[in-house]
Amino acid sequence: MDLTVISHLAQVFAQYPVEVAHGEGVWLHARDGRKILDFYGGHAVAGLGYGHPRWLAALERQARQMAFQTNALPMAIRERAAARLSKFVGLGLDTVFWINSGAEANENALKLAFKITGRAKVIALQHGWHGRTAAAGAVTWGALEKWYGFPRRPFDVEFAPRDNPAAVAQFVDADTAAVIVEPVQGVGGAYEVGKPMLQALRQRCDEVGALLIFDEVQCGMGRTGAPFAANFYGVTPDMLTAAKALGNGFPVSALLLSRGVAQHIKNDDMGTTFGGGPMACAVAEAVIETIESEALLANVRQVSTYIRSSCLVGPVTRVQGAGFLLGLKTSRPAKTVQAALLEKNILTGTSADPHILRLLPAYILNEGHVDRLSDALSKIPA
Ligand SMILES: Cc1ncc(COP(=O)(O)O)c(C=O)c1O
Repeated sequence: MDLTVISHLAQVFAQYPVEVAHGEGVWLHARDGRKILDFYGGHAVAGLGYGHPRWLAALERQARQMAFQTNALPMAIRERAAARLSKFVGLGLDTVFWINSGAEANENALKLAFKITGRAKVIALQHGWHGRTAAAGAVTWGALEKWYGFPRRPFDVEFAPRDNPAAVAQFVDADTAAVIVEPVQGVGGAYEVGKPMLQALRQRCDEVGALLIFDEVQCGMGRTGAPFAANFYGVTPDMLTAAKALGNGFPVSALLLSRGVAQHIKNDDMGTTFGGGPMACAVAEAVIETIESEALLANVRQVSTYIRSSCLVGPVTRVQGAGFLLGLKTSRPAKTVQAALLEKNILTGTSADPHILRLLPAYILNEGHVDRLSDALSKIPA
């Protein structure tokens, strides 16, 4: 395909100069014949990499059996996947509402918080990113100034600093319905909000009766090397949202509820057509099964440590983040490093921080792949 031909797609995405033909494991095959090592994972989606046989088998099996069925009809696969997901996270988050995207999961979490608390204010963190819908965009740092588009926010929002546990009480008060936080901020630069801050938010929410929501759309589903960041930091939210790697490319998201929250819900509080579709549930089940049976969490931890030690070369001055949500701090603009790496057939991401190169690789990445990255980085001037 000639990419210069006039496109019928809405021109809303900046695109990299690579047309993908197919993928295999951690490799992308471009239409022009290049083989590109992927450290970006389709923006944190391809946790198992491309074309994983268990994922493919689950899709095919479920498509043949029953590709779609409404939530009005019970199905075993829906129940089984919910049980598997809540067991994977543990922490008493054992009620699952299936939906389709990260923003939709956050939207429903916020709606429940308003309903349960009867309050109208949300506290989010500076530099946080939660999605493009009316509520998720309203709690996204900088959205109003850049792209929000709706005439006004649908509820009150304040943004607290992401690095100041002592300031939490100034923001979270008896009017607060919910605090929403990415435990490791993705777009914000693979930035660890960190345990002291998460603990301070947990404690303050308990003091004032607000609900704590972890947006684990990007940092969850094994990306930290633990099932979720909630496990990684040992802090339990009242609600947790998951998407991206949950489906490894098939659209699926989930809102997980604590028992305290779940006891408040009743028929019609939430709804969806496609959420909880059998294909989505079959892939979610297969993804968790694969992460567990192939010991991928241990691999994420081991290879993440290796990245931290071997990629401090060339323009990289520091590595931040957790597991396979890493930010390489660069001495020159990250975009220029990204472009230089792509010329060497390595795909990476950037972030809202112009000096952070973001890595979101598949959990099957190995140390040999990292050697290729560190070698390429070492050839880029600082
Ligand atoms: C932390 C976080 N929350 C929410 C979203 C929105 O997810 P979706 O694009 O599936 O609506 C994203 C997407 O990048 C994200 O990174």
